[in-house]
Amino acid sequence: MTLEVRPSNDEALGLYGSAGFELEGVRPGYYPETHEDALVLWSRPLAPQVRAMEAAKTGGDLVLAIETSCDETAAAVMLGGEQQLSSIVASQVDFHARFGGVVPEIASRKHTEAIVAVVTAAISEAGVSLKDLHAVAVTHGPGLVGALVVGVAYAKGLALATGLPLLGVNHLEGHVHAARLTDPKLEPPLVALLVSGGHTTLVHVPEWGRYEALGRTLDDAAGEAFDKVAKVLGLGYPGGPAISLLAETGDPAAIPFPRAMLRSGDFDFSLSGLKTAVLQYVDRERAAGCEVSLPDVAASFQQAVVDVQVAKTVRAAKEYGVRAVVLAGGVAANPALRSALASALGGEGIRLSVPPTELCTDNASMIAAAAHHHLREGRFLGLGADAVPNLRLG
Ligand code: KG4
Ligand code: ZN
Repeated sequence: MTLEVRPSNDEALGLYGSAGFELEGVRPGYYPETHEDALVLWSRPLAPQVRAMEAAKTGGDLVLAIETSCDETAAAVMLGGEQQLSSIVASQVDFHARFGGVVPEIASRKHTEAIVAVVTAAISEAGVSLKDLHAVAVTHGPGLVGALVVGVAYAKGLALATGLPLLGVNHLEGHVHAARLTDPKLEPPLVALLVSGGHTTLVHVPEWGRYEALGRTLDDAAGEAFDKVAKVLGLGYPGGPAISLLAETGDPAAIPFPRAMLRSGDFDFSLSGLKTAVLQYVDRERAAGCEVSLPDVAASFQQAVVDVQVAKTVRAAKEYGVRAVVLAGGVAANPALRSALASALGGEGIRLSVPPTELCTDNASMIAAAAHHHLREGRFLGLGADAVPNLRLG
């Protein structure tokens, strides 16, 4: 499209400039009354990055997101950062179950096998085609390097082949955004407790897109502790659901397991000592010929985890003066943790937002939701980018 405009018409020049028109040339004496010259403007097709950012500003951006940081191969298509058009998750949990935990080598191979089908299904279920998309987003860390690299390489290949811009999302940022998808009223400032098989992290979110990691586990993640204790008790993998079920019939005050770092004054966690204490307790009782009450062990272990998580989260919320807390990650499915945190925060007048289980566990919708904010701010990932297994938040 071309048009002429008087050089003296600053307002029109500003308007056309903001719509992407550029100066092509000059027509001398074009306007008959004044013999004024005309500037000839030309609108060029917008660069894919600009097209995507413009779409994000009005909530019309279609983003394909890919997540492969641990043992779920996931892809989702989302409109405007909040309307999920499709979300496909292929879990590998059955392949890892017999080993009692995620085996990185297996995770990597299974992602390679699943990714084409998962992405294809996400696109077709959304009823869109590749040319409708505005950007490709991918989790580029933190996580298992051999797992992350599959998603990152695939997303880069897709971006290169289609010309679509690439967005890199931090996995933990995705977990925070999961809450927004089913709780649209949720607004920062907030504190998020992210607890899964791979992470136990407290994050302060002063505004969407800004993150400050307050503390993290110094050894095992909360879910990892559940899984390891479950293995010792012979409950199978993943251990969290089995322990929380067993704990329902046990006495949480039966065994005084340690509350590590409860009064450490920081926001870090340590869970490996608790796991060891449970193992030693079970060994000692069995060696002494005593019958071990598995429900009591499960309930007492769970209570020790919950007490520290709740105390630190409430303290962080109060110290940072937030009115909302997000609980996310696979361990957020734990009923004891949910209810203890809800009642402790309720007493302080702070609201708790917990995404439904399918959004708490790893998925690509949460990555697409976070990617929308990257797009609005024009934060793209170059094609030279790589997976960053220990990517920090903020
Ligand atoms: O987020 P997620 O699906 O995967 C990653 O680790 O990234 O979290 C899985 C973890 C496992 O360790 C599992 O044992 C734990 O979440 N989990 C639970 C419960 N349900 C799942 N932990 C405690 N109580 C539960 N009800
Ligand atoms: Zn996760």
